[in-house]
Amino acid sequence: MVSSCCLRSRWAPWRSGPAVAPERPDLRTRARDARDARTQAQARRVRRTVTRRDGMRCEVLDNGRDTRWLLNFCGNDYLGLASHYQVSGALQDAAALHGAGSGGSHLVSGHHALHDALEREIADWLQVPAALLFGSGFAANLAVLQGLLGEGDACVQDRLNHASLIDAARLAGCRLRRYPHADAQGALRQLRTVPDGAAVLATDGIFSMDGDVAPLRELAIVARVQHSLLYVDDAHGVGVLGPDGRGSVADARLDIDAVPLQLVTLGKALGGCGAVLAGDADLIGHLAETARPYIYTTALPPAVAGAALAAVRIARQEHWRRERLTTLVQRFRVRAQRRGLDLMPSDTPIQPLRCGDNATALALSRALDSAGFWVAAIRPPTVPEGQARLRVTLSAAHADADVDALVDALAAARDALPPVTAAAPAVPTP
Ligand SMILES: Cc1ncc(COP(=O)(O)O)c(C=O)c1O
Repeated sequence: MVSSCCLRSRWAPWRSGPAVAPERPDLRTRARDARDARTQAQARRVRRTVTRRDGMRCEVLDNGRDTRWLLNFCGNDYLGLASHYQVSGALQDAAALHGAGSGGSHLVSGHHALHDALEREIADWLQVPAALLFGSGFAANLAVLQGLLGEGDACVQDRLNHASLIDAARLAGCRLRRYPHADAQGALRQLRTVPDGAAVLATDGIFSMDGDVAPLRELAIVARVQHSLLYVDDAHGVGVLGPDGRGSVADARLDIDAVPLQLVTLGKALGGCGAVLAGDADLIGHLAETARPYIYTTALPPAVAGAALAAVRIARQEHWRRERLTTLVQRFRVRAQRRGLDLMPSDTPIQPLRCGDNATALALSRALDSAGFWVAAIRPPTVPEGQARLRVTLSAAHADADVDALVDALAAARDALPPVTAAAPAVPTP
């Protein structure tokens, strides 16, 4: 808070200029009104505090005082690497050697040999010539579109792309055109409306809230005939899909000519934090020297890069983790469908359950919470209006019995729903 003594000054703007101050909206009032509207729409978001983790089990804080254990079915630790002893061991060893932080941005003094080693490892894994490490996937998406596009250019995107891609196109100042979900013809139509200027066709590889995979082969053809660059944000695909877990691009048998840039996030299947852009050396070199979200920020701690390096090596070698995940996904789908649960079409570890309205999603999430399961209710604006859902996610670290118990709890929660769901207080959700 600014104390009044800090505001004392000999400068007195009211002595010059127009006598009447402009009537501006009060931002605190606006924030309170917006919060009240969210409460009304059952769209409040509340953080939940984790105090300890043990594999997929989390101890969480209730009422700011008591703790209890929940089985987590809404994280993105698909391969179970977040608490792998070799990954946390690498983090500890590197922190002991190199400290807690990088101490600078990459282009000044913060770039470290562990950052280099991680970029090389990921480029080798994905079989591309270059890679560039970012502090987050959000920042990497901003960098790609802002670094490559400007006024007069265009970005064509799937309607259900991640928020960071949408914001990135807005930041780039280019024309943004969106096509119906997973509709390559729609992408072609949109590209035809912007025939002048450079163009990027951007899509999630696996859609984060739906779990389905983008029609990458069709999109690659569209991009080629329209002389645009296909960019795949594979935040949820790398580690999970494709040969050696190389992601949705490799799974679609596309090479660097078809997809010159793709995004790997380190905070999902790789269990850590940060992101790596992988692909064409000229494009990546350009972004490393010009993209503002890359240049004007502190480099990730070298220890975080060391942990990610350990995680990538495990993800490349331990195929059983992907096989286990596939088995669990099938087990969940077969059992959920047998119980009549309304699953969305997805073969990936993201297995959303349709709820429709916010109240139903919240009621189910609360009932699961009481039964010891953590499954967040995902509501607009994260998903389109009227399409609230439970985003169930699976991990190789879940046991068969965990999945079976979740399906039982889901069916019981669904059966216990009142005909018209009563208003429910907010529960923690992203
Ligand atoms: C598809 C997609 N892209 C990008 C991001 C952002 O990645 P990060 O969490 O590393 O900022 C996410 C994560 O929420 C995502 O789901």
